Amino acid sequence: MESGRKGWVYGWLLYTVCVLSLFAVEVTGQIRYSIPEEMSVGSIVGNIASDLGLEPKRLITGKARVFTAESSEYIGLDKENGHLIIKSKIDREELCGEISACSISFDVILDNPMELYRVTVDIQDINDNSPAFPKSKIEKNISELAVHSARFPLESAIDPDVGVNSLQKYSLYPTDHFKLNVQSGASGNKHVEMILHSPLDREKEKHHQLILTAFDGGKPQRSATVQINIVVLDINDNAPVFSQSSYKASVVENAAKGSVVTTVSATDADESSHNIQYYFEHVTSTIKALFSIDADSGEVKVIGDIDYEKHKQFTFKVKAKDHGDFSDSSEIIIDVLDVNDNIPKITLMSVSTAISEDAAPGTIIAMLNVQDLDSGDNSKILCSIDRNSPFKIVSSLTNYYNLVTDSELDREQIAEYNITITAVDGGSPPLSSKDILKLKISDINDYAPQFQQESYNAFISENNPPSTTIISVKAEDMDWGPNAKMSYFLIDGDLNGSPLTSYISINSETGVIYSEKSFDYGIFIFITNVFEHL
Ligand SMILES: *[C@@H]1O[C@H](CO)[C@@H](O)[C@H](O)[C@H]1NC(C)=O
Ligand SMILES: *[C@@H]1O[C@H](CO)[C@@H](O)[C@H](O)[C@H]1NC(C)=O
Repeated sequence: MESGRKGWVYGWLLYTVCVLSLFAVEVTGQIRYSIPEEMSVGSIVGNIASDLGLEPKRLITGKARVFTAESSEYIGLDKENGHLIIKSKIDREELCGEISACSISFDVILDNPMELYRVTVDIQDINDNSPAFPKSKIEKNISELAVHSARFPLESAIDPDVGVNSLQKYSLYPTDHFKLNVQSGASGNKHVEMILHSPLDREKEKHHQLILTAFDGGKPQRSATVQINIVVLDINDNAPVFSQSSYKASVVENAAKGSVVTTVSATDADESSHNIQYYFEHVTSTIKALFSIDADSGEVKVIGDIDYEKHKQFTFKVKAKDHGDFSDSSEIIIDVLDVNDNIPKITLMSVSTAISEDAAPGTIIAMLNVQDLDSGDNSKILCSIDRNSPFKIVSSLTNYYNLVTDSELDREQIAEYNITITAVDGGSPPLSSKDILKLKISDINDYAPQFQQESYNAFISENNPPSTTIISVKAEDMDWGPNAKMSYFLIDGDLNGSPLTSYISINSETGVIYSEKSFDYGIFIFITNVFEHL
């Protein structure tokens, strides 16, 4: 604060005479003034002539002058009127710093006769400085676990003024968590600190902003403020919590590797929520081989071949763990959905490879069983055989079928059947399988042999040698194998009173007829018969 030109001067005259051994010149007198600092240039400190009781002319005749050992001259002398005048502004803080008794001294020297007056000017402090904080902001990181009465030192403000003009007190606002404690140290400096009186909770309030004000004791009072930013540091005081106590999901069997089945998620009231890691908890090697969990995202993915026919459901535990030791558990239940990936299987339980052609309709040829490992409609099987065959397939019990003859068989028409049995399941799209049953129709001797011609005529010349081939006859039989094997015989008869066999004979195997003797004339009529081998 500027004192202005008013510059009320405290002056008093000591006028004591003393001898200073240091100086060769006798000190004629001493005078002391007291002025406030910061007086403007030109201000009058005092009138040395009147104060010392000198004649006004004496200053001129004695060539009065100021002598100072210091480099800078703050105060000068006006010889005309004896005024001591401020030559340059005096800043007490610059001159004396923290030392509260501050003065400048100089001598006024006169000649003819030589006189020396010691002048001391006490510089009084004025409240020309505000308190100041070293930084504009104070940053503090304080753990939310900080205990009651924990102390947090703050940087003090500085006010270069002295006495009451210097720093006197502090205030803090708000005081819901912290109160202020100011202690004066041995040197008189004030130590300022905050004391926690109500606990911090990061989860409620992450930041606190306080204002610390420093006041001096001047009139008027000067002050300074500093903002205190408190960051409440998180400590891991909360456990993660899963969003669900169990996660239900489903996955189709044969799901592609990498498919996401479900995503688990846990949250933690702590700041470190993003540090939550997910793990499977005590899972079997089977589950480890089929599923994986991303520790960071909680994504559960398929990594193996899921087969509904092996596992219809998986249940396992999952754990969320924060970076400390807190954790939570949840359950994952994965239903496996059936896909029609199994073809129906036909098993022939008993089968005839051959059946007699006279088998009655309804005769069982084969018993078979069908199975499909899928479930639901995917496992419902329909069994059929080709239409237009003399067979049918009938179900005796679920998944059991009998293949039976449906009409008369005739080996001579069809001697062998390839019966295709088809099993189709009810999936979408359906899967099917086939089995071919080879069935031979065995012959029965149901056909008589028949000559190729109803009658045979043959001619032979007279006087033929005996054993001449006359004719060859041939019969056929529709049956097969032994049932078709034939022998030829002549039916007994007479010719001119002699048995027929004395004239001709037949080769029973080939049907070739020979003459037994020479014939003279005429035409023979004969009949052959043919017999099947039985
Ligand atoms: C407070 O913590 C932050 C983050 O850990 C850090 O960058 C900063 O320097 C700390 N401040 C103080 C004053 O310790
Ligand atoms: C039955 O199938 C076989 C081949 O496996 C074939 O040689 C035969 O001619 C077929 N029979 C009929 C009556 O189709």
